[in-house]
Amino acid sequence: MTVKHKWWQEAIGYQIYPKSFQDSNHDGIGDIQGIIQHLDQLKDLGITVIWISPINLSPMVDHGYDISDYLQIDPSFGTNGDFEELIAAANDRGIKVLLDLVINHTSSEHEWFKKAMEDLNSEYADYYVIKEGKGDLPPNNWRSIFGGSAWEKIAGTNKYYLHLFTVEQPDVNWENPKLRQELYKVIEFWLDKGVAGFRIDAISHIKKIYDQEDSPADGPDGLATNWELYRDAEGIGEFLGEMRDMTFKGKDILTIAEMDVEDPQKWEEYFGDDGYFTSIFDFYHTPFTVQDKKYRDDPVAFIEMLKKLVFKKQQLANGRVFFTNFIENHDLPRALNRFIPQKEINFHSASALALFYFFLRGIPVIYQGQEIGMVDYPKASIEEYVDLATHNNYQDYLLRNYTEVEALQQINIENRENSRTPMQWDNTAYAGFSDVTPWFAVNPNYPQLNYQVEEENPASLLNFYKKMTTLRKRAALQPIWIDGDSLPILEDYAGCIAYQRVLVNQKLTVVINFTNKKMTLPLEKSEVLLTNYDQVAWRKKQVELQPYQGLILKD
Ligand code: GLC
Ligand code: CA
Repeated sequence: MTVKHKWWQEAIGYQIYPKSFQDSNHDGIGDIQGIIQHLDQLKDLGITVIWISPINLSPMVDHGYDISDYLQIDPSFGTNGDFEELIAAANDRGIKVLLDLVINHTSSEHEWFKKAMEDLNSEYADYYVIKEGKGDLPPNNWRSIFGGSAWEKIAGTNKYYLHLFTVEQPDVNWENPKLRQELYKVIEFWLDKGVAGFRIDAISHIKKIYDQEDSPADGPDGLATNWELYRDAEGIGEFLGEMRDMTFKGKDILTIAEMDVEDPQKWEEYFGDDGYFTSIFDFYHTPFTVQDKKYRDDPVAFIEMLKKLVFKKQQLANGRVFFTNFIENHDLPRALNRFIPQKEINFHSASALALFYFFLRGIPVIYQGQEIGMVDYPKASIEEYVDLATHNNYQDYLLRNYTEVEALQQINIENRENSRTPMQWDNTAYAGFSDVTPWFAVNPNYPQLNYQVEEENPASLLNFYKKMTTLRKRAALQPIWIDGDSLPILEDYAGCIAYQRVLVNQKLTVVINFTNKKMTLPLEKSEVLLTNYDQVAWRKKQVELQPYQGLILKD
């Protein structure tokens, strides 16, 4: 029996952080024409769908995640015409385009918010979450996700508006049906322009269980992060279900929500054929780093922790739902710095990491620069960072009695700007990203580490990624990659991550040695579909893997 697959089940995704991808008009900021210039390379890499971080009109307090007009492209990125050109040019190359849908909040520069602030009795005031203060204090002690109180006082009143992110990102009031209708119109507008779907930002926060009581403080700032009240809060399903029914339903699109669905019993409700979304980007693996004190001297313990996490989820997903699998995005440091000990970052470890996540059950997504092995660029001073969230986190460390040196050290390890340095295209000035000083400094390692060098080197990480996408797209293997179960094997071998994709009587095996020593495993010789070394050392009913050697085997 052959099952007919949906296009997105075969998709290979790529996330573009447009500010840092390619500048085409000499202002140091990446833009849409810059993306168009690289579509041939994306096609060559095997990409079939791109997700672009927000490009709508924005004052850029949160780099586009603060939208002041949903229907306009920000002039720093180009025009609506440029975007239409991008969709057409991408489609010509078999690449679909997803927009980032930021509908938990707007920018404080959005017309709706400006009108609300001008007249708190206007209908627009009900587009936002506005509450009376308690005496001289905010309505309650909720902490913003980016630090500080989540409430901002409205001048000349004792009222406050809620912002779960920066002060300039007021949360919209999903309880208001009129506001919801406005957001659905935005979705329709971009679907009409030909986008193939959306990555849906911060959507787990749209429902708030407003509580005037303070929660017990959980930090020296006296504030509280009370997730239960504003992350996947009770009742959110009514909003998500209505949005699906009014917009996505019945359309051949891909919607990937940025959200954790912690209770596996709820997966089908949230994503999949009858879910609110097609799939989700969840964070089960993102809080961890091998640079953590706990793992620094024991990277094998890190791999063991990771493999348990991943396979617990994979096994529960078998036959049910598709996660979106990723190891990097614009909110995280680079994957190589998080998963691989510093002195072991090289072609073998980078390709091993890629092999590991790319063939799991789900949709694989690559983040720009991951395919060439870009790494973090730690800063010598906090002033070199530009993101508000980074600065807030730094202040928070100082509050927690870290010295300035310690705070900066910690920020260098964990801050999300690590992944936002400009894309390294070649060895010319500014890595070929721009010909003027970029908005954020290029990693000085670009003369050695760049796209062009890797394109020319058949043994590069980039060319390894191309081999992986080719294998992922091989027609005969589609049924097993898509419908096959994902099952861990050789679980007792510390530092080894191994799994099988199994469909009826077909079987593919992925085996990786995530240590810096040779590792012997009990595996019978079989056809090698892909490996990151020139050779595979088969012994009698055994295989001896080199440090960070990975294999894909076919029975
Ligand atoms: C999401 C985005 C992040 C942004 C936040 C607020 O988590 O990925 O970059 O700052 O939402 O919109
Ligand atoms: Ca530009």
